[in-house]
Amino acid sequence: MIRSDDAFQTSLSSYAETVEARLAILLDRATQVGELARPQQLIEAMHYGALNGGKRLRPYLVMQSTRLFAGNDEAALQIGCALECLHSYSLVHDDLPAMDDDDMRRGKPTVHVKYDQATAILAGDGLLTYAFDIIASPETPLPDAAKVALVLELARAAGIGGMAGGQMLDLAAEKAQPDEAGIVMLQAMKTGALLRFACEAGAIIAGSNAQDRSRLRQFGEIIGRAFQLADDLLDVTSDPITMGKATGKDAAKGKATLVRLRGVEWAHEELEKLATEACGVLSPFGDAAQPLRDAARFIAGRKR
Ligand code: IPE
Ligand code: IPE
Ligand code: MG
Ligand code: MG
Ligand code: MG
Repeated sequence: MIRSDDAFQTSLSSYAETVEARLAILLDRATQVGELARPQQLIEAMHYGALNGGKRLRPYLVMQSTRLFAGNDEAALQIGCALECLHSYSLVHDDLPAMDDDDMRRGKPTVHVKYDQATAILAGDGLLTYAFDIIASPETPLPDAAKVALVLELARAAGIGGMAGGQMLDLAAEKAQPDEAGIVMLQAMKTGALLRFACEAGAIIAGSNAQDRSRLRQFGEIIGRAFQLADDLLDVTSDPITMGKATGKDAAKGKATLVRLRGVEWAHEELEKLATEACGVLSPFGDAAQPLRDAARFIAGRKR
């Protein structure tokens, strides 16, 4: 069944509502056992940074990859929210003046513009840490071994060898342009790793076998490449109203992107190829993997 973009959007929006309702609870509630206090300005800034209209694509992938293996929906929602907190932290810090220096995110002023830089740094720290809190929490209905595996995978995806490391390479690449392999590596780290985690998480949550887990990981790596390629393409071809963030910034900042290296036409063709490759990886799962295939097509053809 080939679903239209509209049908996928409707499904994504409905999952996003569920995710946002849960994030609102996680980021609003009173002090938890072991916490001393939740300073008002910090919890507000964390709430603002996470609950401000993102697509919620990463939680969607966690939830759909879990469903593929008939894993626990409630656990998938919690892990999806953990990942969204971590992703939101990466955006709050990415927008800081010392990094990309952006004033607009998800159609609203960035956290450091709405509050101040110190609050934005701390809100990022709070969201990053909270991701691991949510995974380990007794409210997340998973065996301890699955929680440990998720903590390890997320730490590796987010830290020195993943997102944070990739952000370092991304900034360095503004000064010394890497070759194509260098760009592919930095993008796999800064963006691909969290998308890979989103897909692999479902297999961990459901306790799938190693082969299925590695398939989902591979699928995640491919859509991760597509995701950043689409982001870089939209930076050239879209506009701030549609994107909810500045466009034309990559060229202005001298960012190393494949669109800059290979051009817009190549990027469109490559996105098509990556979507097909990603869908192919899921072929052993048959129709059950259709929501993930739709997600891959959406990512490659996304307009925002
Ligand atoms: C933006 O991610 C940052 C990149 C990794 C390119 P998204 O496009 O998923 O941002 P939101 O969460 O929908 O705002
Ligand atoms: C972001 O890449 C990757 C992150 C880890 C946040 P970009 O810097 O291209 O993301 P946008 O365009 O600001 O969303
Ligand atoms: Mg950046
Ligand atoms: Mg940026
Ligand atoms: Mg970008």
